[in-house]
Amino acid sequence: MTRSFEKVGVVGLGTMGAGIAEVFARAGLTVVGVEADHEALGRGRGNLESSTGRALAKGRLSEAEQAEILGRITLTTSLEDLADADLVIEAIPEIMDFKRTLFTELDRICEPSTVLATNTSSLSVTEIAATTGRPGRVVGMHFFNPAPVMKLVEVVHTVVTEDGLAEEVADLARRLGKTPVSVGDRAGFVVNRLLLTYLNHAAVMLENGLATREGIDTAMKLGVGVPMGPFALLDLIGLDTSYEVMCVLFQETRDRRHAPAPILRELVTAGLLGRKSGAGFYNGEAPPTPPAAGKPTVTSVAVLGEGAEEFAARLGDAGFKATTTQAATDATEDADVVVALSHTPVIELAARLPHPRRLVGLHLVGDKLAEVASTVLTSPEATCAVEGLAKIVGRVPVHCKDRAEFVVDALLYPYLNDAVRMHDSGYATMDDIDVAMKLGCGYPAGPFETIDTLGLETVRDGLRALYAEYRDPAFAPAPLLDQLVTAGVRSIRGLS
Ligand code: CAA
Repeated sequence: MTRSFEKVGVVGLGTMGAGIAEVFARAGLTVVGVEADHEALGRGRGNLESSTGRALAKGRLSEAEQAEILGRITLTTSLEDLADADLVIEAIPEIMDFKRTLFTELDRICEPSTVLATNTSSLSVTEIAATTGRPGRVVGMHFFNPAPVMKLVEVVHTVVTEDGLAEEVADLARRLGKTPVSVGDRAGFVVNRLLLTYLNHAAVMLENGLATREGIDTAMKLGVGVPMGPFALLDLIGLDTSYEVMCVLFQETRDRRHAPAPILRELVTAGLLGRKSGAGFYNGEAPPTPPAAGKPTVTSVAVLGEGAEEFAARLGDAGFKATTTQAATDATEDADVVVALSHTPVIELAARLPHPRRLVGLHLVGDKLAEVASTVLTSPEATCAVEGLAKIVGRVPVHCKDRAEFVVDALLYPYLNDAVRMHDSGYATMDDIDVAMKLGCGYPAGPFETIDTLGLETVRDGLRALYAEYRDPAFAPAPLLDQLVTAGVRSIRGLS
C-alpha cells in the first residue's frame, strides 16, 4: 500500500531546516518543527519569517498566504511531538555522533511506520540507518540551499532500504514541486561530490594566488554562466558545512583534491562561516564587483594569435595604433604592449621577445570575459593596459597568472572529467547528473551538455594540459573521454 505523507517533522530549523519546513508547508502538509531549546527555536522562527517575508516583499505571496503557510508549522522543543508523524527529516549539523543520537531517539519515539529521513550533505545514510531498529525505513532526502528555490531533491537509498520506499519518497518530492533524482549511498551523492570538489579547487587556486576571490567569482559567472561564483556560493552554503563535506569526501576517497583547502579551516576556526555568521569569504552579502581595470595609457598595440585581426580592428576603431603579427619578434619592437590571444600559457612566447615585459596573454572566454594573463616577466603597467583594452572591446577583464587553462577552463574541465568518471563508475546516469547539476545548483547546462557544446576533444586536450602542468592524476582525462575522442565520437550524450 502506498504511504500517504500528511504530517512531517523537521528537526533542526537552521537555514536548511527552516527552508525544508517551508517547502512542506507550502505544499499543504502539516509540519512540526523541532529545535533543541527556546533560543534556537526563536532563531528558527526568525528564519521561517524572513524567508516567507522575502516572498511577501516580492509580491509572490500575500499576507494571508504567508499566515496560512506559517500556520501549518507548529514549533516545539520536544521530539515527543513527532510520535505520530508520517515522515521526520533531520537537518542538524553534519556531525555523525549528533545524527546517531538523534536517530536513536526518533526510533524510540516515532511509530514503527514513520519514515526517517536525513538531509545530510555527505554522511553515510547507511550508518545513520543502522542506529535504528528500522533501517529499511531510513532514507536520505537531500535538499539544496535555498531550499524553497532549488528544484532538486536527491533521494538516497541504501542497500537495506525497503522496496518501493525510495519511489514513494520521490513522489513526495514531486508533490513538493521538486524534481527527485534517486541515488545510492556514496559520500557527497551526485551534486556535492561534483560541486564541492570544484569549490574546493577554487579555494586552492585562491591560495595559490592564481587570481583574486572576486576575479575567480567573476570569471566563473561570466565564463560559464553559473548563478554564483565559487566563493559567493561557499558563503551561501556555509564554510563549516563545506569544510565538513570535504572532510567526509576525503575520508572516503583519500583523493588530495578532496582535502579541504586550508583557507576553509582557517575561516571556520575564526568563526567566519559565510552568510549565516554575517561574513565568510565576503563580508555581508555584497555581490562581488568586477575588478577595476586601469585606463590604457598606451597608444600602439601589437596583437598576435587566433582572432588577432578582429581584435586589432576593434582597437583600431577605438583610436589605437593596432597592428597584427604572426611572429613574436621584431614586428612587436615598436608596440607599447603586445597582446597574445591564447588559450595556453604565453611565457614561451614572451621569452622570445626583445621586450618580454610588454607581453600579456589574453584569453577571450564566451562573449563577456577576458582572462588577462601576466607572466613572471610582464610589467604591471602592461597588465593594467591590457585590462583596459579588454574593457574597450566590451569585456570584463579578470587578471590571472600565466598557468595552464588560466581560470575558467582550469576549474571547469576537472569538474567535467569528474562527471564522466562518475557516470562511467555506474553511480548515476548522464541524464541524472545533468538534471541534478542544473536543478541543484542553477547551472545553465549539465556537465554532459557542456562537454558536447565545448567539444570532446577540446575538453580532453584541456585536461591533458592541466595534467601536464600540475601532474595531478585526477586531471588526466577519464579513459571514457579519451576513448570517445579516439573513436571520433562527437556527442557523449549520444551514448545514453
Ligand atoms: N530563501 C528563500 N528564497 C530565496 C532565497 C533564500 N535564501 N534567495 C533567493 N530566494 C528567492 C527569491 O525570493 C526569488 O524568488 P522569486 O523568483 O519568487 O521572486 C528567487 O529566489 C531569485 O532570487 P533573487 O532574484 O533575489 O536572486 P538571484 O536571481 O540571484 O537568485 C539564487 C538567487 C536562487 C540563490 C541563485 O543565485 C542560485 O541559484 N544560486 C546557486 C545556489 C546553489 O548552487 N545552491 C546549491 C548549493 S549546494 C547545497 O545546498 C547542498 C549542500 O548540501 C551543501
